[in-house]
Amino acid sequence: MDNAIRFMFILTIVCGAAYARSEAYVASAAVPAAAARTAFDITELGAVADGKTDSTKAVQDAWNAACGLPGSQKVVIPKGEFMTGALNFSGPCKGYVTVQIDGTLFGSNDIPKYNKGNWLEILHVDNVLVNGSGTLDGQGAAVWKDECKILPNSLVLDYVNNGTVSGIKLVNSKFFHINVYMSKVVTIKNVTITAVADSPNTDGIHIGDSSEISVADSTIATGDDCISVGPGSSRVNIKGITCGPGQGISIGCLGRFKDEKDVTDVTVRNCVLRNTSNGVRIKSYEDVLSPITASKLKFENIRMEGVAKPVIVDQRYCPEKTCSDRKGNNTVTIKDVTFRNITGTSSTPEAVSLLCSDQLPCNGMELLDVNVEYDGKDNKTMAVCTNANGVSKGSLQALACL
Ligand SMILES: *[C@@H]1O[C@H](CO)[C@@H](O)[C@H](O)[C@H]1NC(C)=O
Ligand SMILES: *[C@@H]1O[C@H](CO)[C@@H](O)[C@H](O)[C@H]1NC(C)=O
Ligand SMILES: *[C@@H]1O[C@H](CO)[C@@H](O)[C@H](O)[C@H]1NC(C)=O
Ligand SMILES: *[C@@H]1O[C@H](CO)[C@@H](O)[C@H](O)[C@H]1NC(C)=O
Ligand SMILES: *[C@@H]1O[C@H](CO)[C@@H](O)[C@H](O)[C@H]1NC(C)=O
Ligand SMILES: *[C@@H]1O[C@H](CO)[C@@H](O)[C@H](O)[C@H]1NC(C)=O
Ligand SMILES: *[C@@H]1O[C@H](CO)[C@@H](O)[C@H](O)[C@H]1NC(C)=O
Ligand SMILES: *[C@@H]1O[C@H](CO)[C@@H](O)[C@H](O)[C@H]1NC(C)=O
Repeated sequence: MDNAIRFMFILTIVCGAAYARSEAYVASAAVPAAAARTAFDITELGAVADGKTDSTKAVQDAWNAACGLPGSQKVVIPKGEFMTGALNFSGPCKGYVTVQIDGTLFGSNDIPKYNKGNWLEILHVDNVLVNGSGTLDGQGAAVWKDECKILPNSLVLDYVNNGTVSGIKLVNSKFFHINVYMSKVVTIKNVTITAVADSPNTDGIHIGDSSEISVADSTIATGDDCISVGPGSSRVNIKGITCGPGQGISIGCLGRFKDEKDVTDVTVRNCVLRNTSNGVRIKSYEDVLSPITASKLKFENIRMEGVAKPVIVDQRYCPEKTCSDRKGNNTVTIKDVTFRNITGTSSTPEAVSLLCSDQLPCNGMELLDVNVEYDGKDNKTMAVCTNANGVSKGSLQALACL
């Protein structure tokens, strides 16, 4: 791996912003003779349900066939255990494809074979549905320690327009569980995502450069952010999520890379965060000259249970401490942020932290009915706010710092 790539990779890990291939693929699917069929069962195409025979070709052939035909088509992964490497679900497709996952897919641990790409990547596809009661098991535990390798995300939606993911479970991804990039009108609902609390970079769902994205009614417990909404995202709706353990629900990282785009119109509603290191968070670096704005962000009806930093805006985010030379040069504007009806307990005294920069203070901040209390006995509940302007109403006196 050359230095540039290694550099990108290191940034990528700490920021939680997935790299994505940007070549525009044009599909020319080789369609097996199967004119009258509309369901392509991988076991009829050679997949072996023993959990260890490499069934990549069968699954790929099923996709190529379904994608190459008009009308409603289905890729069927029936009950049973199947192992595959990288799956390239590229479009455009001729019709509407459903990927029905009822069995368990195991992601191969032969990392070089992913060729720095992802595991199950849906690319340039419109009108796609992924559902079923099955599981995508990334088998990440075997490779999490290989920090210098580029590890694949489990399920990736790149340039998808009108996509739905529902019902399935994702466990132990090697990198992120679900990554949504350059997509529009995507719904993710009723999914369950689990990885152990100390697994690295196993974000539940990352969204970047996408709009009209909805994430609903799901349970996420991982080692990193449950959900993160990166630069270039707009009209994102997150509701009914139970999160924890993990790092909470985040907007960011912002300001890490050049040419990032604004984040606007993000709503997080009716969520429970349990034993996470952050609750709802906005994190931005003061690192790269990336003059962007994050605005119209709403967090409401959120229950915290033993969360370390329940409400946090951090404009000096820099976990790996390598961004010191630009300290104080903030270029990310944060404004019009509402925290409403946030209740429950904090596992540290600082239930609210609004740490904004003196160059670009946060404006239009609202703390409405924020009542989170420190659950320990040795200290008092408190808010630490710097350079944040706005109003507090109906909140615990100790938290009303605006
Ligand atoms: C994925 O499939 C598309 C369409 O068949 C092809 O153009 C592209 O090169 C493939 N990508 C990879 C990484 O194999
Ligand atoms: C979106 O895709 C689904 C199939 O997954 C299809 O039924 C629906 O009509 C599509 N919506 C639009 C607006 O095309
Ligand atoms: C998957 O989608 C199909 C078509 O919309 C639907 O009939 C089926 O009930 C769905 N299954 C699950 C488990 O969501
Ligand atoms: C959620 O997905 C499961 C399969 O994992 C399915 O059995 C259940 O019916 C789905 N629930 C809803 C409300 O769609
Ligand atoms: C909270 O998380 C920590 C670290 O992940 C873990 O050690 C602890 O047991 C958890 N507590 C509860 C109540 O789940
Ligand atoms: C506040 O949020 C909780 C969920 O955390 C919800 O049950 C309750 O109805 C909300 N209250 C108001 C006034 O919206
Ligand atoms: C801003 O960044 C430049 C490098 O780009 C650095 O030389 C300068 O000291 C920084 N200013 C402050 C206030 O830290
Ligand atoms: C109370 O908590 C604050 C913030 O974490 C800390 O700075 C302070 O030292 C604590 N005080 C005591 C008495 O522990």
